[in-house]
Amino acid sequence: MKNKKIILTGDRPTGKLHLGHYVGSLQNRVKMQESGEYEKIYIMIADSQALTDNAKNIEKVQASILEVLKDYLAAGMNPDKVTIFLQSQVSELCELTFYYMNLVTVSRLMRNPTIKDEIKQRGFDKSIPLGFLAYPVSQAADITAFDATEVPVGDDQAPVVEVARELVRSFNYHYGETLVEPEIVLVKDTKARRLKGLDGNAKMSKSLGNCIYLSDDAKTLKQKVMSMYTDPNHLRIEDPGSVKGNVVFEYLDVFSKPEHFKKYLPEYKGLKELKDHYQRGGLGDVKIKTFLVNILEELLKPIREKRLSFEGRDKELKQILADGSKRASAHAAKTLERVRSRLGLEFLQKQ
Ligand code: TRP
Repeated sequence: MKNKKIILTGDRPTGKLHLGHYVGSLQNRVKMQESGEYEKIYIMIADSQALTDNAKNIEKVQASILEVLKDYLAAGMNPDKVTIFLQSQVSELCELTFYYMNLVTVSRLMRNPTIKDEIKQRGFDKSIPLGFLAYPVSQAADITAFDATEVPVGDDQAPVVEVARELVRSFNYHYGETLVEPEIVLVKDTKARRLKGLDGNAKMSKSLGNCIYLSDDAKTLKQKVMSMYTDPNHLRIEDPGSVKGNVVFEYLDVFSKPEHFKKYLPEYKGLKELKDHYQRGGLGDVKIKTFLVNILEELLKPIREKRLSFEGRDKELKQILADGSKRASAHAAKTLERVRSRLGLEFLQKQ
């Protein structure tokens, strides 16, 4: 069962996707799609999971589904090569979740570092919705339903996927080899994995309002980069500046390439020389920010244009999700059949 490489990953539709998503996951998914190494790639828009922390805000979830799909397509995901589907349309996942719940304890979930953080962030400290606490179990269903061998996620999701791995081991131990244990795949570049927010906050995040969206127009992009946090002690151009914790340089670490220097800043050999100059003094923020605007505009312009080309084509977009969900359901149904049989739930079908 393990020789075929299969990917499953996804996102909760709770808003448009941003540059952090792009370098932390979307770009990598496209690489995997083009590598030809994978038997199947499933990309899930997790609308059901989004309800676990947005049960009272279903409009936001609904409004975000096609926005996320447009971001996917604009970033280069190709529905002819990967199966993009909507979680709520694959009801097998709910049934699997129900059975898996018996193999995980409440205390195990409460101790999970990601769940602990998210409970705090969402103000669930006093009373935690049961569905929210159980989302790692439903995520285990998402992963195992498709026999995923690899789950590419951001590092904050790694402890959640760890629950799925434990669950698979437990299931296979108790009922016999049935489910595939997935590997967690993290993007190599740690700065790209956790792209900082414009304000210097450790993470680019919608709720912190410090994002560059894939859908931002050129003017907004420029304004946002110009507002970026640099070094608060670098008041005059002559002052020595710090590159550590300086968001512009963190982004240049992730995005700048030698050809950008040739094209936009030929007076510098490369990033090291630029950093040295900044640290010595004599290099102003406007110059480094303008350089970054040029680099990001080059990256985001084609994405933005492609994204715009999907405006007003909701019917086609929905069709992509409907087709994908059908294929996903067919795969999940096979897994569910195996699971039901292992659990003795095919009682009436047995002779
Ligand atoms: N939890 C992920 C997020 O918050 C979305 C998700 C749901 C997912 N099921 C998954 C990711 C399975 C990887 C594998 O964006």
